[in-house]
Amino acid sequence: MDLIPCLFLVNQQRSFYVVVLMTVLLFSSTCFLLPADGYDPLDPNGNLNIRWDVLQQNDGGTQDVRLTIVNYQLFRHVELPGWKLSWTWPGDEEPVIIDLLPGAPYNKQVANCCKGGVLSSMMQDPGKYLAAFQMHIGSASDSSVPRLPARFTLGLPGYTCGEPFKVPPTKFFEDQGRRRTQALATWNVTCSYSQFRASSAPTCCVSLSAFYNKTIVPCPKCSCACHGEDGAECVKPGKLPPVLQLEHNEPPKPVVQCSDHMCPIRVHWHVKLSYTQYWRVKITVTNLNYVKNYSEWNLVVLHPNLRSVTQVFSFNYKPLNVYGNINDTGMFYGIQYYNDVLLQTGESGNVQTEMLLHKDPGIFTFKEGWAFPRKISFNGEECVMPSPDDYPRLPNTARFDAQAASSIIILLLVLLLTVTVFIVNGFFPATLCNR
Ligand SMILES: *[C@@H]1O[C@H](CO)[C@@H](O)[C@H](O)[C@H]1NC(C)=O
Ligand SMILES: *[C@@H]1O[C@H](CO)[C@@H](O)[C@H](O)[C@H]1NC(C)=O
Ligand SMILES: *[C@@H]1O[C@H](CO)[C@@H](O)[C@H](O)[C@H]1NC(C)=O
Ligand SMILES: *[C@@H]1O[C@H](CO)[C@@H](O)[C@H](O)[C@H]1NC(C)=O
Repeated sequence: MDLIPCLFLVNQQRSFYVVVLMTVLLFSSTCFLLPADGYDPLDPNGNLNIRWDVLQQNDGGTQDVRLTIVNYQLFRHVELPGWKLSWTWPGDEEPVIIDLLPGAPYNKQVANCCKGGVLSSMMQDPGKYLAAFQMHIGSASDSSVPRLPARFTLGLPGYTCGEPFKVPPTKFFEDQGRRRTQALATWNVTCSYSQFRASSAPTCCVSLSAFYNKTIVPCPKCSCACHGEDGAECVKPGKLPPVLQLEHNEPPKPVVQCSDHMCPIRVHWHVKLSYTQYWRVKITVTNLNYVKNYSEWNLVVLHPNLRSVTQVFSFNYKPLNVYGNINDTGMFYGIQYYNDVLLQTGESGNVQTEMLLHKDPGIFTFKEGWAFPRKISFNGEECVMPSPDDYPRLPNTARFDAQAASSIIILLLVLLLTVTVFIVNGFFPATLCNR
């Protein structure tokens, strides 16, 4: 698809070199902007895993099966209304789920089991990134052992699951580790996420400012939608949003405050202060969505100076060293009961932090937008950044030097003129002669 602009350039008889360069640029940017299916460079190994453990084969051909869903994603979590696992049985088999524990509704579709379908990310709450339940299955027609189902789906936007593959049986520890048991057989299903499959439009944007420049660089226009566009409804600030009839079990569609960017989330990065050894950044996350409180929100930031984070105020911070010791990526998230819920738009609809970073000699600079983040994502969704051409710039030092130089020259000229006037008036010789 990206070849079209290149062919267009050929027709315009631009030089071959430009065409080749453009092609290379387009392809490299395409690779960067549209990562391969489900691949997130900030979390290259992240996925959701479904494990199917056959625990027991009973007389009469029924089976006890344990299902475990594990969120192996570093920062993407599963929020309300939660996952809704489903699958299809192979062939014309028609197994029935006889029982589900604990107290889940039983059906071929296992709805919102056990934890309301909510899973935390691995980094944020290791106690809640896993859900498990057991069921008792048997064939409706005969007493043959039910076979493994296929085509698992999680009922979550953006996730697709592969086919199950057999892995070594899971080992369980029971009675506080005293007794070791093993599944009869175990299958593994890997589900991966793609932002592009989840929604075609971004949901977050970034604005920038710095103490050394009065310009506040806003979120790029139409980051998430264009104001006034068909289907892009919004509420003017100060007006009340329409009363919403939420479909049960449906995530509410964002109702955003009108803006040029139309995003439900805006992240503002302000370079606040410079000390001799350190510099200070203030990050503000603003919720512009009228119909959603973001609980367990998180922010992932890529900036080369994050390897020298000295202090982070009012947020939790964890480095994400996904590429060994190049720790230029970190995750910020709220403190429980204090700011772990980003409230719906309004006076309290924001969360803020300040952080101190050490100025590493030889690397640190305020020049060329170095102090601004390379990438930001909110709840695992990449935010739209302003173009680097628009970043707040340092006052032009070259022009400053030229001004300084010209004022020195003027001063020298004035001095020379004064001396000349004195000499012409015979003032100096007279004084000298009197001595
Ligand atoms: C199942 O798949 C996941 C993700 O591909 C992998 O991390 C995990 O080790 C697998 N489990 C087993 C028991 O092989
Ligand atoms: C968000 O939380 C506040 C305070 O708990 C509550 O009053 C409000 O109704 C919630 N809004 C939504 C959209 O859930
Ligand atoms: C950077 O990574 C190293 C090694 O993984 C770790 O010891 C250090 O604490 C990290 N620094 C920061 C600021 O995250
Ligand atoms: C501040 O940054 C803007 C945007 O890059 C730039 O146009 C402007 O000249 C800068 N102001 C000063 C005083 O350098």
